[in-house]
Parts: sequence; C-alpha cells; structure tokens
Amino acid sequence: MFSFFKKHQKPLFEELCDIHNHLLPGIDDGSKDVDTSTKMLNAYHELGIKSVIPTPHIYKELYPNTPTTVKDAFKLLKQYKVPENRTKVNSYAAEYMVDEVFMKNLEQASPLLLLNDTYILVEINFFGQTTMLKSACFNLCQKNITPILAHPERYHLIKDISEYQNLKNQGFYFQLNALSLLGQYGPEVKQKAEKLLREGLYDFVATDAHSVHDLIKLKNLSLSKKQGVQWESIREFQLKLFS
Ligand SMILES: [Fe+2]
Repeated sequence: MFSFFKKHQKPLFEELCDIHNHLLPGIDDGSKDVDTSTKMLNAYHELGIKSVIPTPHIYKELYPNTPTTVKDAFKLLKQYKVPENRTKVNSYAAEYMVDEVFMKNLEQASPLLLLNDTYILVEINFFGQTTMLKSACFNLCQKNITPILAHPERYHLIKDISEYQNLKNQGFYFQLNALSLLGQYGPEVKQKAEKLLREGLYDFVATDAHSVHDLIKLKNLSLSKKQGVQWESIREFQLKLFS
C-alpha cells in the first residue's frame, strides 16, 4: 500500500556492536541458560549485528553479580563455538545500578567491568531520583572512565529536555533502547525516546535484549526518514568506537 510518510530504508543494525544486553546465561533476568544464549546469538545474526558485549546487571539488591560471576558466565558461553561469519562475543562488561553500594565501590576503587576499557554502562531506578548521578559522573571522569547512561527515556522522574541536557553537560553519554521505539515499555517511554532522538541527544543505540523474543521484535522496527537521519549519525559514531 502507498504510504504518505517517507520511511528510512537502510538496515538498522547491520555491522553494529550491541553494547547493552543480557545475553550471559543464568546470572540475571536475561538468558536463563546457554541454550537460550545460543538462540539469542542466532537472532542477533539475523539482525546483522556483528558483535555483542554482554552487560549483565550488577545490582546488589536483585542481581548481586561480581566480576567473578560475570567472568564465569562468559566462560560458560564461550564453550559454545560460534561458527564463522556469525555474531561474535569477544568481551564482557556490566550494567551497573547507581546506588549507595556502587558509590562505595567507586570510593574504594573496586575493579569495574568496562566497555572497551573506557566506558561504563550505568542505570538508575526507573522511578528513582537522579541525585547520585552527578557525583558518580564526577568520580568516574576523574578515573578517565566515561559513563554511558542506559535507556534515559525510561526514567519517569526526568521530564524535561533541559534535565537531560544537564546530564549530558555533566559528561554522560546516552544509550537508546531500540525497543523503546517499538513501544515495549509503554507509550510514554516511546514518546520520550522519539523526542530525545529528534533532539539529537542519543550517542549509542542498543537492544537491551533479555530474550530471543526481544531480538525478533526488533526486526519490525522501522523509522521515519527524519528519525533515520538521527539513527545514522548514532550508528556512525558507534561504529567508530565499538567493533
Ligand atoms: Fe539492561
């Protein structure tokens, strides 16, 4: 059928590295076992994603992972030999909840799981305040670590673009969950994601996949021509930093 609205036509995920997902088996609310993880890798391949850096939750209250538990899950997954020309998993990192425990670990200089030795993926509670983010950012930047705020569109207490802009001015990079644009987390989050995309505030895009199903849904993502322009500039930046 003829569509009045112009659509973005290029493949969205081709060649990208997924920097936020829950692919590692059995250590958080993502993949439950190696079999599920391998099915997720097949779905990644179908999206054209070149590589994945798994980022399991590190959140004392719900998923008390440590560098050791994450490393063990990574090793378990690596026992599965990925065939040639398929999506690769070459390293791992984590998604850190910024809370008192995280701040204490920062002060004590505990080892952190980083993306490319340089970036750290962080989140806050969906209904939580942003107050701790500023000192977390200050502390991380002093260590030459750049924080990437996961799915900023999902935080209900951040309402205005100016508040987002403040966080960016402090030094945060922003990572869009592609599923937000499909309405996975409700209409309010979808609208906010569209707005942040329009304003050019995102630096990275990721799947935040917790299951095979999440990745299959992403095949249905289509963008308007205007959104496609923003998406392409994110994609270009991401390809430079993560391979
Ligand atoms: Fe996540």
